[in-house]
Amino acid sequence: MKKIILLIPLMLTFSFLHADEIGKQLAQESGCLACHSVKTKVLGPSYQDVSKKYKQDKTAKSMLVKKIKDGGKGNWGNVPMPPHPQLKEKDIEKIVTWILSI
Ligand code: HEC
Repeated sequence: MKKIILLIPLMLTFSFLHADEIGKQLAQESGCLACHSVKTKVLGPSYQDVSKKYKQDKTAKSMLVKKIKDGGKGNWGNVPMPPHPQLKEKDIEKIVTWILSI
């Protein structure tokens, strides 16, 4: 029994790591990295800056998912992000989880 209890946090850690990897991969596959990079501003803000801005904000996640899906501007300047209607909401959530984990 003790062994199982010890294994649970370990398994949780691994599944979180895995979720981050999936988010990163989805961002790569979805073309996000054409305009964003982790550390430096490209056309859009760096994901490090996005994470810094929203990490403590519990309502940010759903706002960001909607913004990625519908596109928009104004939070970082006047350059708009185009909408991504082809992406599944679940996949966008995984990307946002990865971004906020940076
Ligand atoms: C054509 C360039 C472009 C592409 C492709 C793009 N973005 Fe953006 N993104 C931007 C710009 C420009 C902004 C800044 C918008 C603003 O000022 O509110 C932005 C902002 C963001 C933000 C912060 C939003 C906010 O309101 O603070 C997130 C998160 C984000 N992008 C994620 C993504 C993800 C995930 C993808 C891929 C599915 C993606 N972006 C693809 C240009 C792009």
